[in-house]
This record gives sequence, C-alpha cells and structure tokens, in this order.
Amino acid sequence: MKKNTDESIYTKTKYENSCHLTKKDIEIALEEALKKIDENLAVFTHQFPSESSINNRYVPIDNDRGWGQGFWTGILWLAYEATGDERYRKVAELQVKTFETRIEEKIGVNHHDMGFLYSLSCVSAYHLTGNEAAKKAALQAADHLVSRYREKGQFIQAWGDIDDPKAYRLIIDCLMNIPLLYWAAGVTKEDHYYQKAYHHMRTTVKNIFREDFSAYHTFYFDPETGAPVKGVTHQGHSDDSAWARGQAWGMYGVLLSYVYTKEKDLIDLYKKVTHYFLNHLPEDHVSYWDLDFMSGDEPRDSSAAAIAVCSLLEIDKWLDETDPFKKIYQNAAKEILKSLIERYSTKEDPNSNGLLLHAVYAKPENLGVDECNIWGDYFYMEALVRLLKDWDLYW
Ligand code: GLY
Repeated sequence: MKKNTDESIYTKTKYENSCHLTKKDIEIALEEALKKIDENLAVFTHQFPSESSINNRYVPIDNDRGWGQGFWTGILWLAYEATGDERYRKVAELQVKTFETRIEEKIGVNHHDMGFLYSLSCVSAYHLTGNEAAKKAALQAADHLVSRYREKGQFIQAWGDIDDPKAYRLIIDCLMNIPLLYWAAGVTKEDHYYQKAYHHMRTTVKNIFREDFSAYHTFYFDPETGAPVKGVTHQGHSDDSAWARGQAWGMYGVLLSYVYTKEKDLIDLYKKVTHYFLNHLPEDHVSYWDLDFMSGDEPRDSSAAAIAVCSLLEIDKWLDETDPFKKIYQNAAKEILKSLIERYSTKEDPNSNGLLLHAVYAKPENLGVDECNIWGDYFYMEALVRLLKDWDLYW
C-alpha cells in the first residue's frame, strides 16, 4: 500500500494560484456543447446514446439495460435549465416515460444503479416540472434499490443476484446512488430510506478508503457474518491502485452524503479523498484512467476529471471563507475545467457526437478506451451550468 502523509501540503502548493477562465469562456463552452446536443436531439429522442462511443460516436440504444441512460436525460434537463428552451424539456419528458416503464416492468434493473438512472431523469423532472409520474417512478426505483440492502454487513449489494454469496460486495460508485434514498426519505417522510442510505454510507467510508485515502473500487463482506473481507478492483489497474473514476465517485459521493446528513466528519473525509485525487493529476490536470499513472502513454479518463470538478464546485457552498482549502478547491476546479474545455471537448471535432473526448469506461475489459462516455458528458455539462447559474442538485 502506498503511503503519503503529506498529501494535503503537496496539494496546497499546486493550486495556490488561479488560472484564467472567464465567464465568457464558460458561456462559449456551453454554447459549443449545446450545438452538439442540438445536432443529436433527433437521433436521441426515442433512443439514448450508448454508454461509451465507438470512434467518438455514440450509437442509439433503448432504455432496457445498463446504467447510462439517465445521463442523457440529465443533460437535456441541464440544457433546459440553461436556456429555457422547451425543445429539451419535450424530449426529456418523452424519455421520462421510458424510465417509468423500465422500473414498472423491472427491465434491466438487476443492479444498484438506480440513482444514476433515476436521480438525473425523474427526480430532476419532478423537481423542475412537478411531474408526479416521474416522482412515482423515482420512488419505485428507490424501493428497488433498498431491496438490495444486506443486513449482514449493512450495505447495498452492487451487482449480481441477491442470493449469490460470491456477489456479496459494495462498490464506491454506489455513493452516487444513495442520494436517491435520501431524496425518497425527504418526500415520503419514511425514515427507512434514510437509514439504509446512511448505514450503507458508513459501511462504505469505513472500509473502502485506505490509510492514505485512496479508494478501493469494490469491497467484499462475509455473507455469513457481515465481517469485512477485502478490497479488490474491477475497473482499476490493480487491487492496490486508485481507479481514477472510483476516487472521483468517492469525492462527490461523500460530499452528497454530507449535503443530506450534515455530519461534519464527512467534510474532513472529502478533503482527504480529494487531496489524494488532486495530488495524482498529471501536468494538464486531467487524470489518467488510474491514479497510479501520472505521466506516459496510458489513456486519460476525462469523465473522472469532470466528476471531480462538480464536487469541487459543490464543496465551495459548504466551506466558509476562513477555510484554508476553499481557494485551493476553487482554483483546482477552474484549472481542471479549463483543461477539459481547451483540450478534451469536442468543439473542434465535427465527427464526434459526444461532448468530451478521451475517457475510459473499463480498461481491463478494453471497453470504451479513449472514447467519449455519456457520464463524462453529463458531468461536463453539470460543471458548466453550475458556473453560470445557481443550480439545485438533481442528486
Ligand atoms: N458506475 C460504473 C462506472 O463508473 O463505470
């Protein structure tokens, strides 16, 4: 296991100064992104972009499997909020209906990714337009998610059949799914959603971070006793490394649990997890697919960078002016976003129908390597919109 007890000092020096990223730069980046979205709206009205692209082009898929469809509907809600243009709302509303059917008929939902699917498509629809059918679908998705809660060990099982002892594990990504449960607790006043989210979060943060606050991707528990067994990777470079997107899920996920619980230790944890991420970025501030790499030819994961930026913009709301890291995080968010806009966006790539180039889905499986992926596009849009308006979380 790697150790670095000086992580926070090292980060402080790196992001002491602010880069030059103006409101105008962000507005132009948003216009470029909207242009791409407009070009693709007709193709992705009744169908959705695939999770990752092929030669930088998404292909149309149905809303019947996987975990990525919510990101495109989320992008449309962001576009609607940024512009007020009803075209985006109309398409998003058509798509919401497919989410209603999917959870009603339990199509392709034998997994934990209900938050990625339903927070961005249906919680957002309810929040922005008061759509009651979307609220109902999001609550059904929350019920489905709690059905994966395992009492022994107190966590939500990520993948596989619930009665499969070999699948008895959580994954760090799920910190982004449990906000759906916190939201469900709020709208129904039923505490059990909150309790399950809370216990899952506590089990996760206790086990998934190493001493240096790098994250395992997944963590196994003993199905008989619930005792912690071991951390292993699924999409990272090795069991001992920090898969870049996992670390970014950890940043944003820990912070979202703070937003709902207001438990102060989560702010301290956010800082430590974030320092590990920031300290392992290469020269251009956009992570390689695994934080083991800081130079060389390995592919980048621009989606991890976009997720990290959103978390850095969110933490700004919760730190007061006297916090020694407030400015550092503001500077880091801008540096990373500037790099994404200038070097990774598709603004000069007429061939691509995505927004962000150079992401990785799953390197060990050679899946979506150096391609666009739809969550990278979503978080890039979320970051741009956050900087241009007072944005309420869909999460
Ligand atoms: N949640 C799956 C991934 O980040 O690839």
